[in-house]
Amino acid sequence: MEAYRDPSKPVEERVEDLLRRMTLEEKIGQMCQYSAHMGLSERLKELVRKGLVGSLLNVVGVENVNEIQRIAVEESRLGIPLLLGLDVIHGYKTIFPIPLALASSWDPEVVERATAIAAREAAAEGIRWTFAPMLDIARDPRWGRIAEGFGEDPYLASVMAWAAVKGFQGDRLSSDPEKIAACAKHYVAYGGAEGGRDYNTVDISERTLREVYMPPFKSAVAAGVATVMSAFNDLNGIPASANEFTLRKMLKGEWGFQGFVVSDWNAIGELVVHGIAADAAEAAKLAVAAGVDMDMEGDVYRRHLLELVKRGEVPEQLIDEAVRRILRVKFLLGLFENPYADPERAKRVVKRGEHFEAALEIARKCIVLAKNEGVLPLSKSLRRIAVIGPLADDRDAPLGCWRALGDPRDAVTVLEGVRKKVPHAEVLYAKGCDVRSEDRSGFEEAVEAARRAEAVVLVVGESADMSGEAASRAYLDLPGVQEELVKAVWEAVKGRGVPVVEVVMSGRPLSIKWSAEHIPAIVIAWHLGVRAGDAIADVLFGDYNPGGKLPVTWPRTVGQVPIYYNHKRTGRPPGPDRFTSKYIDEDWRPLFPFGHGLSYTRFEYSDLSVEPEEVEPGATVSVAVTVRNAGGREGDEVVQLYVRDVAASVTRPVMELKGFKRVHLKPGESKRVIFRMPTQLLAFYGRDMAPIIEAGDYEVMVGSSSEDIRLRGKFKVTRTAKLEDLRSVWFTKVEV
Ligand code: GLC
Repeated sequence: MEAYRDPSKPVEERVEDLLRRMTLEEKIGQMCQYSAHMGLSERLKELVRKGLVGSLLNVVGVENVNEIQRIAVEESRLGIPLLLGLDVIHGYKTIFPIPLALASSWDPEVVERATAIAAREAAAEGIRWTFAPMLDIARDPRWGRIAEGFGEDPYLASVMAWAAVKGFQGDRLSSDPEKIAACAKHYVAYGGAEGGRDYNTVDISERTLREVYMPPFKSAVAAGVATVMSAFNDLNGIPASANEFTLRKMLKGEWGFQGFVVSDWNAIGELVVHGIAADAAEAAKLAVAAGVDMDMEGDVYRRHLLELVKRGEVPEQLIDEAVRRILRVKFLLGLFENPYADPERAKRVVKRGEHFEAALEIARKCIVLAKNEGVLPLSKSLRRIAVIGPLADDRDAPLGCWRALGDPRDAVTVLEGVRKKVPHAEVLYAKGCDVRSEDRSGFEEAVEAARRAEAVVLVVGESADMSGEAASRAYLDLPGVQEELVKAVWEAVKGRGVPVVEVVMSGRPLSIKWSAEHIPAIVIAWHLGVRAGDAIADVLFGDYNPGGKLPVTWPRTVGQVPIYYNHKRTGRPPGPDRFTSKYIDEDWRPLFPFGHGLSYTRFEYSDLSVEPEEVEPGATVSVAVTVRNAGGREGDEVVQLYVRDVAASVTRPVMELKGFKRVHLKPGESKRVIFRMPTQLLAFYGRDMAPIIEAGDYEVMVGSSSEDIRLRGKFKVTRTAKLEDLRSVWFTKVEV
């Protein structure tokens, strides 16, 4: 048996043995990925048969997977299996909340659980690679892809990145039939697009790049992510898919990334459009030199690399390095031993009951109670409830963007959830209007339903296709005439003591200032997946006490954007004096701050301790606080630790999240939460761009949101040290 076919051999030996046997054409073939979204064409099969394809995406169904894999394994010369990928972003067939909602749980176990189930289902049907987690920091909700990531904060996103990689891959990439290779994307800073306009230019400082956009990717690499996807965007003048600095110097150099880099869809071909390559051949040369190992759907590597190598313009060892990385992932996944999917096993695994149960438990944790003036929870003894709005009985929106093979027929709508929750009540339904049209003809029916009801649940927001890729918005208003509907319903019932709740389903923060000023209760439900209706009904009627927190700042209006909590202080922070940084026509503060989320109970914080008061760089600061449930309902509180570097050699954010913990407390129960924060987390890039932990005073803030700080303390770092001289640590440990 050839060494590469022998699973008892070390992976690296198998890689080298196979590489030696490959022709240059076959090597380049491994660097080529094509989409089968239009089905398995004869042309595609022929390329696979010739060993000229390394990976396919969008192959759907066990039969198709096995058919094309059989051609690769049994008909090509070396029998190298294909790596089959799909966008399994927040579920495969059982669809979970969108990633922005998952981040709202502030619970990495939630993210790990959702991604583990997604991996189990995808792997069962032969998909062994997902193009997730998406780790783009987003400070601009006009950008539709804010829905796909974990929000605006580098620390929160880094914790969730780690959890997602572990959920998809397990502790390490292996042949585990329930795990798949993950892909940290879109590397890098894609979320910094000017104007929030998808695919647009990104021009930021290296310090912002390293301190804001890089950390989640660094965390994913430390967690062992198998692949990284290079982004579409131009980054400081060099497109991310031709950027040697980010790909070779940082990712593969500084961080020692051992997996492979796949381009985003034709991002290599688009180097010509960017104007950085005169033609596709030059694009191929730039991308492979920069460190892009696989060409997604561009057909640029297949058409040009062979000639470029033969002409000596691309060294063959660059090809070899790329192919080593790709083969390594295939061997580690066990694809050579188990390339096929088992249809019987797939039937047992996909969409099984426990996955739907998990979808409900997860969705509940992602709901954010933004406002509640004595309205929620609703009484179950209500006799007549009106459920109104274009998303009240919509089964598609809850699946959100990037729903893989999710089926809207599996989704539970809010109307269905409410009807199940209060079967004895008369539940009136009125759509009122469409999501995006100007048609107001449904208002009258909606107002009439509200007039007859003892309580009103409004369900408004965005359809699934209004966020995600190529879905940037210039406005953040409720689309169409939805706000007019809300106003009409409110006018009909205000002053009558009728509880009115507004449930907002969206893939981004929306400017709902009027609602926040008038509607007594607001529930942020994002796009919560197949069990959305049940989870929302559980919260509305108190069977679940919401504990979610915002992973993004929620603006009053689009004019404030970009707006984020960890901003710089400036020399004239906003204040009463006219000549300070604010607007003359709008409050400068957000509608709801980063980390915001209410509960049906209340939590008290006490006994803050910060030890030691003076700490050496590389040591750990322990911040302890007691949190008590002072109300009558059990519930979750996300205890948040923020730090501020009071004075530094470069300007620093007014605060930065450096630890958090979601704790469950029964009425009257107290818990001592201890954050063991390594001082390495205080590092920043100094004036010479070297990462340092700087001597000086630091303020500690502990609270329920970035603006609801309950207790403050301080400590001092005794001297300045270079981060590279200290051991790497990623997160604050939290003991409860
Ligand atoms: C898309 C997206 C990327 C996705 C890829 C494959 O253009 O940018 O996130 O993974 O193509 O579908």
